[in-house]
Amino acid sequence: MLPFYTAVLFNLVWTLNAFSIPNVNATFSKSPKPFVLRVNKDFIDDTRQRVLTARSPIFLETTTYEGPSRDNFTHVQEYWVQEYNWTRVEESINKQLQQFTTIVEPTIGNDTSPIPLHFVHHRSPREDAIPLLFIHGWPGSFLEVSNIIDELTHPPNKSLPAFHVVAPSIPGFGFSPAPERPGFGPVRAAHAFNKLMQQLGYVRYVVQGGDFGGVILRFQAHLFPNNVVSALSNFWIIQPDQSDFRRLAQGLATPDETTYIATLETYINQASGYRILQQTQPLTSAFAVSDSPLGNAMWMYALMAEVVDPTIKNWTPEEIITWSMMYYIQGPYAGMRFYREVANDGALDGVDFGTIPWVKIPVAISQFPYDVAYRLPLEWARRGGNVIKRNVHDHGGHFAAYEVPDLLLRDIREWFGDRVVSGTKAFLD
Ligand SMILES: *[C@@H]1O[C@H](CO)[C@@H](O)[C@H](O)[C@H]1NC(C)=O
Ligand SMILES: *[C@@H]1O[C@H](CO)[C@@H](O)[C@H](O)[C@H]1NC(C)=O
Ligand SMILES: *[C@@H]1O[C@H](CO)[C@@H](O)[C@H](O)[C@H]1NC(C)=O
Ligand SMILES: *[C@@H]1O[C@H](CO)[C@@H](O)[C@H](O)[C@H]1NC(C)=O
Ligand SMILES: *[C@@H]1O[C@H](CO)[C@@H](O)[C@H](O)[C@H]1NC(C)=O
Repeated sequence: MLPFYTAVLFNLVWTLNAFSIPNVNATFSKSPKPFVLRVNKDFIDDTRQRVLTARSPIFLETTTYEGPSRDNFTHVQEYWVQEYNWTRVEESINKQLQQFTTIVEPTIGNDTSPIPLHFVHHRSPREDAIPLLFIHGWPGSFLEVSNIIDELTHPPNKSLPAFHVVAPSIPGFGFSPAPERPGFGPVRAAHAFNKLMQQLGYVRYVVQGGDFGGVILRFQAHLFPNNVVSALSNFWIIQPDQSDFRRLAQGLATPDETTYIATLETYINQASGYRILQQTQPLTSAFAVSDSPLGNAMWMYALMAEVVDPTIKNWTPEEIITWSMMYYIQGPYAGMRFYREVANDGALDGVDFGTIPWVKIPVAISQFPYDVAYRLPLEWARRGGNVIKRNVHDHGGHFAAYEVPDLLLRDIREWFGDRVVSGTKAFLD
């Protein structure tokens, strides 16, 4: 009887609300309301059944990396069927992260369409805490903030800066509903997240992000220089220009320039097939990954495995499944097609990275060797904005907040703690 009643209840909740998320009990209203993650049990059972009956490819003994291995496939499948307990995962997310839903209504050109959002919000007990917006990317989610949030809100002593932390889900990711029509890219996300900070009473704030978070923060800092005081990006990508490539060919490039171009080219030529597909015809693969939870997990894990430091991070089946569920629950299409919108807004250009408007607020950048690009020279970084500080680490990868939280925390504290140079003295007025 229980599944039937649960289904009736969920359907009732869905029909009463203008905005909804497939398979999730959520309501959205014009001010922040606490949100407890609760996913339809029948959906979780159906997902497990699909994993149980998943069909595997016939594997070849290849010498080059073509995607996750046979062992990866069976390891994740067996764990999902035999051990994975969504109820426990859900409980631990709800216990660790205080989540909310709201609706924001930014005016973007002639449009003021309401945008429903899911977000994490932890306030620091410290009176001098700085509001910090943390933005995730693909194939991540709001869960990326998990390993730094407590240290940000509750630093060990007064000599370190404290932060009020807001970590939204980009619409179509996690539990922010997917946009209902095309056009929602990093520009709109920047408008939405700025409005969210205003709604929470944070007129001025700082931003931290990697991956799409690092893209959105540049648009946001450009559009709202009076609200975004300072930023720290662990994904500040500048596409090298013709003269950079010419100097490299002539043997005139510096070690930093050479490494940067080499890492970027390796990513573009050997590891970005998923990206080209998602920025051109995302629907093509959305059919497959919407239907196969294990296929979706392997699609995401293919990249996750390649951009972390293997001496630090070996993704567990539990993490791979939970990260993939942050897409699979509402359906992975919207998250995938965000690439298309990023390209439409100019930040991706064919196989290359595009251009993003100039950022005039003070910026620090952090670089990790296993990220898609490494050792971008400060002079090149400055083509994108007022980059003042460059932190180059010798270990860690793409998901710094999650993978090497101590390194990123140190960068965050040093940069935003330097109140004159980063501009955060504005919060002391
Ligand atoms: C759905 O959420 C509402 C509001 O948070 C709550 O009162 C209700 O019990 C939830 N329903 C289910 C089936 O979890
Ligand atoms: C996936 O395969 C790689 C290469 O064999 C291995 O290092 C890694 O631990 C595997 N991960 C999982 C979750 O099975
Ligand atoms: C799954 O986790 C929940 C919550 O911790 C627990 O009550 C339940 O017994 C677990 N289910 C199984 C099959 O272990
Ligand atoms: C809003 O602006 C867009 C682009 O500037 C334009 O294409 C569209 O027709 C406008 N819509 C309305 C309702 O004015
Ligand atoms: C504050 O904590 C940091 C990090 O644990 C430590 O390095 C620093 O020495 C501490 N400062 C004081 C004044 O206790």
